[in-house]
Amino acid sequence: MLLSGRGSNFQAIAEARLPIEIVAVISNRPQAAGLAWARERGLTAVAFDHTDHADREAFDALLADEIERHRPDLVVLAGYMRILSPAFIARFEGRLLNIHPSLLPMFPGLKTHERALAEGVKVHGCTVHFVTADLDHGPIVIQAAVPVRADDTPATLAARVLQQEHRVYPQAVRWFAEGRLEINRGRVNLKDDSTSQSVFSTEG
Ligand code: GRF
Repeated sequence: MLLSGRGSNFQAIAEARLPIEIVAVISNRPQAAGLAWARERGLTAVAFDHTDHADREAFDALLADEIERHRPDLVVLAGYMRILSPAFIARFEGRLLNIHPSLLPMFPGLKTHERALAEGVKVHGCTVHFVTADLDHGPIVIQAAVPVRADDTPATLAARVLQQEHRVYPQAVRWFAEGRLEINRGRVNLKDDSTSQSVFSTEG
């Protein structure tokens, strides 16, 4: 589990009773609230401060070594707010998941909720995807859609999208753990299942 901040997606995954063991929580920010939460629960929590390393490639190589020491089957980016170098991504490709707060391929990058409101879209949401070298692209595992309200602010919209993030990310991790995700020419199919890979907010 890699994170940089409050770690609410990590918490949602940790509390979802999934058939997984979280072998390590690693943050590039020593003060990340998610690290403290992990420690309180007796999980291995490691700070790996990027400000100690001037060079991104070198930092990512050390980070990748640290991750591999814990022998994870899956690396989950849960609000990890640093762009990963291509070499890092290549090392974990196919077992590296990210959540992004928009309906990709709309609004890659930052400030997604502000941009969604500025564009006047009527539906917004979040996406869990496999990470490839292409920032905020990569095979889509699951998406959740949230209606945009006329009186939404970036904060109210973000809060509703976050609720959906907490639904879809544990689901995606469960599917991965069960060996059900199959990537075929850039598309993710759910093996032996016709379950929908989209979720709609239940709000009116
Ligand atoms: C989430 O909105 C996630 O989509 C984005 O960063 C935020 C992280 O929140 N990548 P948290 O640390 O999981 O609470």
